[in-house]
Amino acid sequence: MTRIPVIFDTDPGQDDAVAILFMLGAHEEIQPLALTAVAGNVGLHHTSRNARIVCEWAGRPDIPVHAGADRPLLVAPVTAEHVHGKTGLDGVPLHEPSMALADEHAVDFMVRTLHEAAPGSITLCPVGPLTNIALALRRDPGCVRGIREIVLMGGAYFEAGNITPAAEFNIYADPHAAQIVLQCGAPITMLPLDVTHQAQTTAERVSRWRALPNRCGPLAANIVTSLERYDVQKFGMHGAPMHDPCVIAYLLAPELFAGRRVNVEVETTSPLTLGATVVDWWGTSGRPANVHWINQVDADGLFARMTECLARLP
Ligand code: BDR
Ligand code: CA
Repeated sequence: MTRIPVIFDTDPGQDDAVAILFMLGAHEEIQPLALTAVAGNVGLHHTSRNARIVCEWAGRPDIPVHAGADRPLLVAPVTAEHVHGKTGLDGVPLHEPSMALADEHAVDFMVRTLHEAAPGSITLCPVGPLTNIALALRRDPGCVRGIREIVLMGGAYFEAGNITPAAEFNIYADPHAAQIVLQCGAPITMLPLDVTHQAQTTAERVSRWRALPNRCGPLAANIVTSLERYDVQKFGMHGAPMHDPCVIAYLLAPELFAGRRVNVEVETTSPLTLGATVVDWWGTSGRPANVHWINQVDADGLFARMTECLARLP
């Protein structure tokens, strides 16, 4: 089976960390070319460090980690320490990573790699604010040719926002970058809160990870146990939504998901609804579809895949 070459753009972040472990466990199906870190849940210093820590947990210090943008394009930085803790990965012991950051800036890496790649060959997986991707597309619009698909976690339509009443965190944190990405012309699949809220942890699901006879299963269990507290207290959920892992599950098993091809635009001017994703679900605008908007998942299937991949890690 040919592996899917992926650039994983991330702001770890607790659910980011679980998504990275999930991806690294799926080494027979996914070929991670690099992790590119962006400021988001916490500052770039933490996200670029946490990405390396997670690679080391998974026994993959060979995966390059590139640091990217340390702030959004135009808006003031917004972070989510209230969700992920001061380090971005509170709740588990963090070591000083032995891996160094790659020398090349994340945006330079993306532009170069997309240019060198065969046309339509690389899948971009952004699970944080879209600053790095937008900068690469602005810096060199021709690099879009190398993209097979952008599969991203972000947005909300049928569910309310989680950082403001109107907006989901990743889009709100850099709405201008999100709008640039949505206009780039590459095939885009979005996994918004509409679907990630259907993929919540339960005691039974997490207990399967905790029972794995390796390091990474119990680690993933501890990370989501720390994350759950916020979602349960703030949103009355029964567990933590697996936002970013949905991206990896979609790559591995798109048949677990359902959605619709629609036009999606981002609100970039109104202070009240900044970062809202306006989804033309009924095609009333006449604007062309630019996104495959996912709104359903088989959550048991998703957790089964996660467990299977976490079990392959050290
Ligand atoms: C998104 O925001 C971040 O806090 C999570 O890591 C996820 O990418 C969910 O809104
Ligand atoms: Ca994230």
